Amino acid sequence: MSNETPRRTFAIISHPDAGKTTLTEKLLLLGGGIRSAGTVKGKKSGKFATSDWMEIEKQRGISVTSSVMQLIYNDIQINILDTPGHQDFSEDTYRTLTAVDTAVMVIDSVKGIEAQTLKLFKVCRMRGIPILTFINKLDREGKEPLDLLAEIEEVLEMETAPMNWPIGMGKTLKGIYSIPDKKIEVYNDSHEREIVPYEDQKVLQSFEQEQLEDEIMLLEEAGNEFTMEKVQNGQLTPVFFGSALSSFGVQSFLDNFVKLAAEPQPRKASGEVILPESNTFSGFIFKIQANMNPNHRDRIAFLRICSGKFERGMEIMLSRTGKKMKLNQSQSFFASQTETIDTALPGDIIGLYDSGNFQVGDTLVTGNERLVYEEMPQFPPEKFAKVTAKNALKHKQYHKGMEQLVQEGTIQLYKTPYFEDFIIGAVGELQFQVFEYRMKNEYNVDIEFQHMTHELARWVTKGEVTDKMTDSRKMLVKDQQGRSVILFENEFTLRMFQDKNPDLSLSSGWEILE
Ligand code: G4P
Repeated sequence: MSNETPRRTFAIISHPDAGKTTLTEKLLLLGGGIRSAGTVKGKKSGKFATSDWMEIEKQRGISVTSSVMQLIYNDIQINILDTPGHQDFSEDTYRTLTAVDTAVMVIDSVKGIEAQTLKLFKVCRMRGIPILTFINKLDREGKEPLDLLAEIEEVLEMETAPMNWPIGMGKTLKGIYSIPDKKIEVYNDSHEREIVPYEDQKVLQSFEQEQLEDEIMLLEEAGNEFTMEKVQNGQLTPVFFGSALSSFGVQSFLDNFVKLAAEPQPRKASGEVILPESNTFSGFIFKIQANMNPNHRDRIAFLRICSGKFERGMEIMLSRTGKKMKLNQSQSFFASQTETIDTALPGDIIGLYDSGNFQVGDTLVTGNERLVYEEMPQFPPEKFAKVTAKNALKHKQYHKGMEQLVQEGTIQLYKTPYFEDFIIGAVGELQFQVFEYRMKNEYNVDIEFQHMTHELARWVTKGEVTDKMTDSRKMLVKDQQGRSVILFENEFTLRMFQDKNPDLSLSSGWEILE
């Protein structure tokens, strides 16, 4: 890949089963990324997508970890970051979103926005990054297109602007009408791409034409004004209809994607705005994944390059510690296949072999200025459990596994003040299960959970918490950085506590989710 090729970096977000994997595979095919679609995950046929690489994903049929893929289309290098579709892994999705410039939201036209996915979409919405929407499964009887748009507008408080419009759906699907260029992409069984100007089309019956013309007029009159500015600041989402499975509308989506997606954006570090074209190389680690290959027990840190040029072997500084190191082992990704990468540019994601130096959120820079990219906000956990090793003799492995999985962000770890009991926090129950599974499979430790009734974590940002203030319903613990955190059973206990202790300031760790 040429280094001069422009970059576009995005993540796909969707509810499980909306068609994210299928769409990703089709995009990769268009970019010449993979030769056959045989790698598309088919839960029934037992095949798995190139993007699913962890055993646990295969077992559960859900994407637990994010992977990175690349394709070249219209001379643009597109970096795709996969995200877990399940809401229990919203934290992982959030971290992935810090590394992209655009998000693609895939919605199943039959189901619309599903309740469990709302948090994922909101996370995306709140980052203020451009969001492109792909409404999938047009080959099935779905919700009315206008209702789907209204749903997005209401639930996500975001304007919509359809870029194409379906003509029929399911059995009556005839095609999609491209609004800007007034052409019809005809739907046919052979899945051959056929595009005709609207005035030349012969496939629509007169009632279909009438309905289409009415709907387009309605959109023109009542629709939102489309501006690139609104797209770029995430205020308006361009909406595309299609069917990933039938490769219908996918290429049109990609053609538009390269025009609408944001280029690598300037980012804030230590209060300064760092431009991608800056000569100084900088980037941050948004994800660490241990044991990607069980045969090698390796650990990979995923780095988003924000400025300058990466060259293999270059000396960088880890801003957190000031330690200098040479980056000799770097990889680019094609899901589980990797290749050594020698150079990379802003927008690119590279994998660095890590022997324990890096943490999620670390900034790497050249030069001596200890720049730090804006800290990754902590996602407030909602589930807590005390955890112990079943077999006390496995103490060493237990601590190692715990340390590594916490560094990866699989779960959050807290300790009680005096006895230093381990309490783990998660956004969703599945995170506990993944943790348990990985502790057993990767570290050979059986663990025991004691689920707690607490549901809220608040960081103490001002004031001192004394023993007298807390009890079993409001429990004081320390987080990984030694900060005081109080775990509350519910909103009511939290409010009572705040009323009694007005001098204390509490933070949910991540205000924007509130
Ligand atoms: P995900 O990654 O978002 O979880 O979704 P994935 O692509 O795995 O797709 C989920 C299911 O929806 C799959 O069916 C897939 O074939 C189907 N699908 C994806 N896009 C479309 C589409 O445009 N139209 C229709 N009708 N179906 C679509 P499955 O039953 O889980 O697997 P399989 O047995 O069909 O392989």
